[in-house]
Amino acid sequence: MRLTILGGGGFRVPLVYGALLGDHAGGRITHVTLHDLDAERLTAVARVLAEQAEGVPDAPAVTATTDLDEALRGADFVFSAIRVGGLEGRAADERVALAEGVLGQETVGAGGIAYGLRTVPVAVAVARRIAVLAPDAWVINFTNPAGLVTEAMSRILGDRVVGICDSPVGLGRRVARVLGADPDRVWIDYAGLNHLGWLRGLRVDGRDELPRLLADEALLGSFEEGRLFGAEWLRSLGAVPNEYLHYYYFNREAVASYRGAEKTRGAYLLEQQAGFYAEAGRPGTRALDAWHRALADREATYMAHNREAAGAGDRAEEDLEPGGYEKVALALMRAIARGERATLILNVRNGTTLPGLDADAVVEVPCAVDANGARPVAVDPLPGHAMGLVSAVKAVEREVLAAAESGARADAVKAFALHPLVDSVAVARRLLDGYAAAHPGLAYLRP
Ligand code: G6P
Ligand code: MN
Repeated sequence: MRLTILGGGGFRVPLVYGALLGDHAGGRITHVTLHDLDAERLTAVARVLAEQAEGVPDAPAVTATTDLDEALRGADFVFSAIRVGGLEGRAADERVALAEGVLGQETVGAGGIAYGLRTVPVAVAVARRIAVLAPDAWVINFTNPAGLVTEAMSRILGDRVVGICDSPVGLGRRVARVLGADPDRVWIDYAGLNHLGWLRGLRVDGRDELPRLLADEALLGSFEEGRLFGAEWLRSLGAVPNEYLHYYYFNREAVASYRGAEKTRGAYLLEQQAGFYAEAGRPGTRALDAWHRALADREATYMAHNREAAGAGDRAEEDLEPGGYEKVALALMRAIARGERATLILNVRNGTTLPGLDADAVVEVPCAVDANGARPVAVDPLPGHAMGLVSAVKAVEREVLAAAESGARADAVKAFALHPLVDSVAVARRLLDGYAAAHPGLAYLRP
């Protein structure tokens, strides 16, 4: 089985390769092709992978290329994890919004819209090449904003593209842990859009254990989301929101904290990653050591300003261990390639799962996966307040898709203006001006 990783010079690629190294069964991935536009990043990451493979006799072979068509030909799986505009682009997404006094974040609010506007045209072009060169390949999309980008690609690839994110798994695992349940044996009732979902139940042997958690002040204070949102708000909701909902429910505090920070997350990572790539690319160094150090720092500082705004303290030791999306990706590939049935929370087309959204809207819900791909499992409808937010954000995503297709500035302004975290049409217009000036990738938008 051949896996092609787009964005193969990306920092998280060793996580995926590490997961593959632990898979020794028949039907596993035997060849990995890394594709990236940046040859230096490819070299650095290829060195990390080579060191990871030391002493593993059946390690998947790795090749690297900067030619997209060459990378796609013959692929059984395509893993897309690209960052259009790089971390410089992410830093600008954050900075322009914060300067306007609204949330500047990678995937949520104005920053996420800007990121979507420049990523969708690229993702669509990639999907078209996949449709031509690897029409039978399964495509796993991790490119953010993952729900929106998966929907864009699904217009070309249909159900052959599945979006993944580590945040629902992480949430489910944390809630299972505080309840003393085995994370691999629980049923997680989770629904919404990517980075906009709620855990409404966690069943162990058919019994919902979430009410026990919500009733217990000490348990609620003992995990990330409990500390971020506070016991009282979680009880009011009767659910545990995805950590990204902190940007909505505590928007003012999050914006203040982000504005007060010395550097945005993107700017911080830009500096950190520059150090890693320089070190990992230098012959004579242990690239894997450099990668481990950078990863540990990245995990420890993840969402630090939200935790600070909430008085949530440091991240728990157990949560510093990554083990999110690469495990989802591997489980998904195994289920498809070997028909090993699995239930995973994935980004797929809605069908009739969430009433109120149309069939083609990509949603993030539990899915049954087997050799035929991923199908959403029936879930309870979302309560009105959650559905309201989901509908509003889906409408924004649709405007982003419209803008990417039409190239019309008016559609892009509408996307910003309709977002619940952008408080004025005038702000939306200024945001677009600011982003157009910062991003060459938005030059396609015309009056
Ligand atoms: C989580 C989310 C990803 C997001 C990442 C940002 O893993 O699920 O979608 O890209 O956090 O983390 P970072 O360390 O880049 O701020
Ligand atoms: Mn994510």
